[in-house]
Amino acid sequence: PASDAVTLIEMGPRDGLQNEPAAAQLPTATKLELVQRLATCGLTEIETTAFVSPQWVPAMADHAGLTRAVSAAWAGRPGAPRFWVLTPNLRGFEAAVAAGARHVAVFAAASESFSQRNINCSIAESMARFAPVLERAAAQGVDVRGYVSCVAGCPYDGAVAPAQVAAVARDLHQMGCCEVSLGDTIGVGTPRSILAMLDAVAREVPPALLAGHYHDTWGMAVANVYASWQFGLRRFDSAVAGLGGCPYAKGASGNVATEDLVWLFQGLGVETGVDLARLADTGAWISHQIGRAPASRAAQALRGQ
Ligand code: HMG
Ligand code: MG
Repeated sequence: PASDAVTLIEMGPRDGLQNEPAAAQLPTATKLELVQRLATCGLTEIETTAFVSPQWVPAMADHAGLTRAVSAAWAGRPGAPRFWVLTPNLRGFEAAVAAGARHVAVFAAASESFSQRNINCSIAESMARFAPVLERAAAQGVDVRGYVSCVAGCPYDGAVAPAQVAAVARDLHQMGCCEVSLGDTIGVGTPRSILAMLDAVAREVPPALLAGHYHDTWGMAVANVYASWQFGLRRFDSAVAGLGGCPYAKGASGNVATEDLVWLFQGLGVETGVDLARLADTGAWISHQIGRAPASRAAQALRGQ
């Protein structure tokens, strides 16, 4: 893409569905259809599932079957999107690669309590789990993204200092992550706190290697994306129809809706390559599948016309 274009990394199938009660019953074929429809909308990066414990996150229990199906659907086809999957440890990484994954993500937190509740270990222990994942990924030419959760606040510890976020982002970057995605897991950030956080992180990791991952709990996610874009970020995580939330962050709502970001960047004259009308249809379709209303304001406006 041109240097001023923006890339949207679609989170709907993973971050979106992981916390939707109805998603545990959703057939793998429907999830595959969601992934394929999202690709048809022009999304070039899609996070599809998580190789985590099915006891912890039942909606992602079919991770291997879905990954095999996605790999098979795109085998030998040119122009395949990059399909990301979460891998919390070496066991998840091995299973993901065996199923055909070539792009994985490790996930850390900037707050100790969230790290314990989410992945059952301290921040330092999580880094020790990720190190062998990054080593093996490098040997096999697999790309690894790194997430930092709770970059603007933690549901258990409250405020999170920008320096804490910067330290975890630096460690992930130094470990070999190709990109660090900054997660406002509970959506408490506002442009001022997000910019303070970005200022600290950008001293450790070049902005070109950062992505914004903002949840919309308090309605500030679009504002935070805009502020981050002005700061220099060009990659943003979002979920079709604003699906989801985090199972280990009570009250957290979905990611910023992809439709809303497409509308934002269209208005700014910035290329995303995504077809808004098709995306709104896809959002309506998947929302219907899981029995909820789409949360995208842009999609609602478009469909009301
Ligand atoms: P643990 O307890 O430290 O690990 O869990 P363990 O080795 O003691 O294993 C515990 C159980 O998990 C065992 O099963 C293992 O077999 C199984 P049991 O004997 O109890 O039946 N297990 C696995 N199963 C499948 N795949 C694996 C795997 N590893 C162990 N890879 C673990 C550690 C991470 C596995 C666990 O805590 C877990 O699954 N947590 C879920 C984390 C999660 O998915 N959270 C939501 C995604 S993160 C997020 O949403 C934030 C993000 O969007 C950014 C943001 O918004 O901030 C990324
Ligand atoms: Mg998230």
